[in-house]
Amino acid sequence: MDYASYLRLPQLLSNQQMESVKQGSPAHDEMLFIVIHQTYELWFKQVLFELDLIQSIFGGPVVDDADLGRAVHAAERIVKIEQLLVGQIDVLETMTPMDFLEFRNLLIPGSGFQSEQFRLIEIRLGLKRETRLAFNDTSFDASLPEDARRHLLAAEGRPSLRDQVDAWLSRTPFVESGAFQFRDAYRSALDKLLSHDMDLIRAHPHLSAAEKEVQLASLQKSRAMFDGLLDDARYAELRAQGAWTFSRRALQAALFIFLYRDEPAAHAGFRMLKALMDIDETLALWRMRHALMVSRMLGRKVGTGGSSGYDYLRATADKHRAYNDLFAIATFLIPRSALPPLPEEVRQSMRYRYEQRP
Ligand code: HEM
Repeated sequence: MDYASYLRLPQLLSNQQMESVKQGSPAHDEMLFIVIHQTYELWFKQVLFELDLIQSIFGGPVVDDADLGRAVHAAERIVKIEQLLVGQIDVLETMTPMDFLEFRNLLIPGSGFQSEQFRLIEIRLGLKRETRLAFNDTSFDASLPEDARRHLLAAEGRPSLRDQVDAWLSRTPFVESGAFQFRDAYRSALDKLLSHDMDLIRAHPHLSAAEKEVQLASLQKSRAMFDGLLDDARYAELRAQGAWTFSRRALQAALFIFLYRDEPAAHAGFRMLKALMDIDETLALWRMRHALMVSRMLGRKVGTGGSSGYDYLRATADKHRAYNDLFAIATFLIPRSALPPLPEEVRQSMRYRYEQRP
């Protein structure tokens, strides 16, 4: 075994074939363009490999606590890789728009839009076909080769990580435990908090009557939003409109984990949810950075894949998110001091205790 043969370097390093050289008009920056895209695809491969592990852990009927730590670790690795992918755009931007023009026309109709691995990452994280932005009146996979389209369809037919996390959260113990119903305890804590805030506004010495009315109306609005999460019928309505994607049970459990994350039994779950938010946010950041890079490289030209370029890509940063629901939970957080205390038996079952035996 030696370095070059283990890494298959002769094969790897002979795979950078510049189209401009083949056409007899070498464009220096095309090498950078190829190397950057190939390294992206290698990292996409690693992200999918980490998703294999995470999804195998979340795929079963029970997620063992001992395995949860490995899933968190793999998810945190994905975040680090994504950060690297965002950073790689700095290297690509050392290519100026005029240098790009030297070989851009040779790429048509090829585009990163046709990256099968990128689409697999999106699908496996939980992005659904019906929530994708319209693209030139065709489906997002229309320009991919037949076998790639088949792979994507097969991936869409399997549970995504978001589906698996939803099922896992829905099984969270403690949320409803004997006489303890988190939903009821939380609702009364919120009622208390809101009526306290309303009393403060009504009695405020420096607010005018009109200002008080605005503030009180805003608190009423918060109340209605809380109902959206705590009330079955209202939640079902909002979910049907696309405002929520997770099930109500799952989101309520996620809220519980966020609020009681100091309890040892909630630690790993909290780290997993945080890692999922980091994955989602860093991917959105990449989308944003890529869109800005595209606007600098192309201005208002359409993309080689035929999209509106910047406008389309910019919009995906907002819309193509799989874990928006977890971000929305911040709306419902309350200060630690107002948290309903957990009943003693629930608290004890969420803690580890080591007793010294005589
Ligand atoms: C000069 C550099 C680049 C330019 C000008 C560029 C341009 C574009 C444009 C205009 C699109 C929209 C589709 C289209 O009309 O073609 C797009 C999509 C895309 N590009 Fe790039 N790109 C560049 C570099 C990269 C790199 C290095 C990657 C890494 C793999 C990449 C990955 C993607 C992906 C995954 C999409 C699909 C995004 C989505 O639909 O959400 N691009 N690119």
